[in-house]
Amino acid sequence: MLKSLGTFISLLLLSSISFTLSFSPSSVFGNFPKSASKSQNDLHSSADDNNEDTRRGWLGKVAGGTIVTGGLVANKIAIRGPTPYEPPINSLKGKVIIITGGNTGLGLESAKRMANAGATIMLTSRSKTKGKLAIQDVQQYCLENSGIANNNVYSLPLDLCDLDNVKEFANLYQKSPIGNQKIDVLLNNAGVMAVPERELTKDGYEKTFQTNHLGHFALTSSLLPFMNTASREGARVVNVSSMAYTFAGKGLDIDNINGDLSYGPWDSYGQSKLQNILFTKELQRRAKDANINLTSASLHPGLVRTDLARYLLQDDFVSMQDKEAQKQHVNYFSPKFLALLPLVYFSKSVERGATTQIWLASGQGDGIDGNFYQNCNSLKLAPYAEDMEKAKELWEISEKLSGVKYNF
Ligand SMILES: NC(=O)c1ccc[n+]([C@@H]2O[C@H](COP(=O)([O-])OP(=O)(O)OC[C@H]3O[C@@H](n4cnc5c(N)ncnc54)[C@H](OP(=O)(O)O)[C@@H]3O)[C@@H](O)[C@H]2O)c1
Repeated sequence: MLKSLGTFISLLLLSSISFTLSFSPSSVFGNFPKSASKSQNDLHSSADDNNEDTRRGWLGKVAGGTIVTGGLVANKIAIRGPTPYEPPINSLKGKVIIITGGNTGLGLESAKRMANAGATIMLTSRSKTKGKLAIQDVQQYCLENSGIANNNVYSLPLDLCDLDNVKEFANLYQKSPIGNQKIDVLLNNAGVMAVPERELTKDGYEKTFQTNHLGHFALTSSLLPFMNTASREGARVVNVSSMAYTFAGKGLDIDNINGDLSYGPWDSYGQSKLQNILFTKELQRRAKDANINLTSASLHPGLVRTDLARYLLQDDFVSMQDKEAQKQHVNYFSPKFLALLPLVYFSKSVERGATTQIWLASGQGDGIDGNFYQNCNSLKLAPYAEDMEKAKELWEISEKLSGVKYNF
């Protein structure tokens, strides 16, 4: 898998380098006309002509280089996306926001910026230690950025690969210091990508499917009774999906939902991100039909430099949350790291990558209606990601496999 990713990146680089080298305005605009025809009596010698040709050649190369560099810069600006969205200070005061996978990457960044705007944050992490570290990070961010001491930042353990643990989460929430407060937003953010071999969870389900979809499906169901659907704004569920849903180009593969028939690390990731979109749409449809004041949205953050590459880096992986280990143990010259290096050009910082989910979780956006977002704009989906028959099938099989039942 790493080899094929490396090949893909090398091809991308090679094609852009060969394009840059072969580029000259004449290759695009045609040859420049010769300024004059020569006669024996011409004062211009053929040496002068050669000099002029050389000059033109150089000018062409400089112009070509400038155009290509300009194109690369413009492209990079487009990849980076809009300026990071910062919810205004105090704009989220009184709001309760739950963020799964809040200890690192996009989840941690979301926690920081929304806590800075005054939100009460409950982040989830797989271990108490990671949760504690994340709370410190968030509070320090608030102090440094706005001088605000937000003491309403909490963490609870959650392992999406363990359905008993997922179902217990609502009880843990109720017993937590904010257990008497209704939840305004559930940001289903945690995820894994490109797990090399098919791995089964404790519940017997394929790891990517359970982490990215089934666990969040069950979690949303058990938290729904505690969500603030009675408020004027209503409650919101935001599911972090990805443009990688297009890897599932033939649509939802319900017969192979658990990877029993075949397994591929990218196939499984693509299917899970399509499931995020279909779940979002069916949740919205059912909430509307039941007259429940709840909006749901899914999104693509962009290609972002986070811990998500852990399965690509394997032994060379060091979590971004572990700052000391980052300084001491990251080997930027390892073959796996070097293979991923070109992605720096094609990727965003965490600050920019988290923008769309922060924007949605902060209650922004009109006519959310189960839509899919990128760079804070609603995006048209491929027809198979709008297939409401498949969305219904996914819902039914997810209820069966997870053993949860939605109350609408
Ligand atoms: N980064 C990108 O380029 C990109 C692009 C498109 C979509 N996304 C989506 O963005 C979301 C966030 O990813 P990220 O880039 O921020 O990755 P990340 O840095 O790897 O963060 C993922 C989070 O999910 C948690 N997690 C993993 N398995 C879990 C489990 N079984 N139970 C509970 N939590 C679990 C991780 O916890 P640990 O730290 O304990 O492992 C971590 O907190 C994912 O849904 C991903 O698919 C990311």
